[in-house]
Amino acid sequence: MLMIALSKGKMLELTLEVFRRAGYAMGRFSIESRRLVFPCPEIDMTFLIVRPTDVPTYVEYGAADVGIVGKDVLMEQDSDVYEPLDLGFGACRIAVAALKGQASRDRLSSKIRVATKYPKITERYFNQRGVSVEIVKLYGSIELAPLVGLADRIVDLVETGNTLKAHDLVEVECIAQSTARLIVNRASLKLKHAVITKLIQKLRAVSSPSTGPRTAAPRNASRGVGRRVRRTRA
Ligand code: PRP
Repeated sequence: MLMIALSKGKMLELTLEVFRRAGYAMGRFSIESRRLVFPCPEIDMTFLIVRPTDVPTYVEYGAADVGIVGKDVLMEQDSDVYEPLDLGFGACRIAVAALKGQASRDRLSSKIRVATKYPKITERYFNQRGVSVEIVKLYGSIELAPLVGLADRIVDLVETGNTLKAHDLVEVECIAQSTARLIVNRASLKLKHAVITKLIQKLRAVSSPSTGPRTAAPRNASRGVGRRVRRTRA
């Protein structure tokens, strides 16, 4: 039985669609349900529905053999997992944004305050540019921060850009592209090598950048199974 941690929220429906297209019958699976565990004995898999930021933890500790999670989460966390496949869907970007009219305002004499749910990505990005920032960690509704004077900038996910637009914000710079990734527990890859390799092959066969709402997925980001991919670093 393969335990698979899926990210709840926006990405869940797209994930289920990809599994179904890959030939995995998930008859009893309903995202309307409040259930968090979905055993699918007919395909020898159990699906766990967890918060996106918790997916790498489930996989790193072996509570799940495999997980599906956005690259944004992997970039922010320091999880020791394999990342063998870029699934291509759920494409969005991690971007710096500011209120219209303030995007080019320099505050070199004082620290820029940046609100984000990605403190490590944000710190690394501004550090590399030699810009001193004060980071305000938030857990959601990031776009509100500049409106009420909590921050000068935000670093957040942008997909359609509608949320930025609705709050009079403009994108200043793109930090990175993000798409859904398949991650694998290091021990599981050895102990369940055949079944995990088959899963990766089947998902790879139906994955392409065109399955997502945007077409930003870097296809060459897919990596071979069996070799240590890398430790995802924040
Ligand atoms: C995400 C992200 C932006 C929004 C971007 O928020 O943090 O707010 O989606 O999407 P758009 O460019 O298509 O408008 P989410 O809905 O996950 O909620 P959150 O703000 O609570 O994190």
